[in-house]
Amino acid sequence: MMQGAVTVLGIETSCDETAAAVVRLENGRAEVLSEQVASQTEEHALYGGVVPEIAARAHVERLDSLVKLAMRDSGLGWGDLSGVAATAGPGLIGGVMAGLATAKAIALARGLPLVAVNHLEGHALSPRLGEEVQFPYLLLLVSGGHCQFVQVDGVGRYRRLGSTIDDAAGEAFDKTAKLLGLSGQGGPAVEREALKGDAKAVELPRPLLDRPGLDMSFSGLKTAVRRAAEEMPLTVQRRADICAAFQAAVGDVLAVKSGRAMALVAETTEKRTFVVAGGVAANKALRARLEAEARHHGFQFAAPPLRWCTDNGAMIALAGAERLRLGLVDGLDTPARARWPLDEASASMTPVYGGGKKGAKA
Ligand code: KG4
Ligand code: ZN
Repeated sequence: MMQGAVTVLGIETSCDETAAAVVRLENGRAEVLSEQVASQTEEHALYGGVVPEIAARAHVERLDSLVKLAMRDSGLGWGDLSGVAATAGPGLIGGVMAGLATAKAIALARGLPLVAVNHLEGHALSPRLGEEVQFPYLLLLVSGGHCQFVQVDGVGRYRRLGSTIDDAAGEAFDKTAKLLGLSGQGGPAVEREALKGDAKAVELPRPLLDRPGLDMSFSGLKTAVRRAAEEMPLTVQRRADICAAFQAAVGDVLAVKSGRAMALVAETTEKRTFVVAGGVAANKALRARLEAEARHHGFQFAAPPLRWCTDNGAMIALAGAERLRLGLVDGLDTPARARWPLDEASASMTPVYGGGKKGAKA
């Protein structure tokens, strides 16, 4: 256990964002001293999805300067750091290797401890970057590669309660955007269009809502979106209506399942906090919907500020600092992992497979 302040450089390279940040953790409070994010949206735009080889190369090209900038902005020297952390998985393996190798090199050269962070743990702890969210809490982790309910009891103590059985919600946003010919990042593009549409104009399914439990499914929704897009001429208004209907359907699924998850948690504990994190949590309509659901169930609601919903270095630095504080360090031989469930026990009992463009989903 480390006493006093813990200051960590965090590196994130699991998908199409190269990111580095310096975070100081003191008395349970996190302070982001600096952060840098370089997105690769343009590099992949031509291909309609993230191309792993292009991503890995772009990470390698940017990492050194990004880390230097993060260190410069923090006003600290290498000697002021307590350790260096990097995402070690799950994600696109080439990118993860690039970030992890950089962290290992820094650790070796500067004599600093290395912390290999599970990307999902980064998302899981990310709400604590902005405010003091106390453990335990119920987490809905909803991103481009993942969609799951997790009971978070503390650092390193996670229990998966349910998850998507096919696509992640963010992936469904991305595919919907692509199908409708929207440019830019999928989620924000659909959110923008949805503002101009009428959700009631298009009928879409709410997969798995008729079944008990907390598992979710989004691939049928994507197929229904394709049908709706092909059924009649895709006018500007029709496109907006489909986006609005799609977002409403995702909102219904997430809200109803979240309600069930809260009811389940409320049976066993007085601690009632519901947290939403991951890229899709940046969606204002969905956030509002989930906040209302939390209020309805008597739960406190927390979600990170938008910049810490999508992939970033600060959440990796924070997870690294929290682990380091507990004495959890990793050897320089720690491997990069394409698959790495947050809750290994549940994952091995009820494996959820699927190789989305952002790597394994479980
Ligand atoms: O957390 P993240 O950056 O990467 C993963 O770990 O997957 O999440 C990215 C995902 C993408 O699928 C993106 O379309 C989605 O989050 N996303 C959104 C919004 N902003 C990002 N989805 C819906 N509405 C948004 N505003
Ligand atoms: Zn992520």
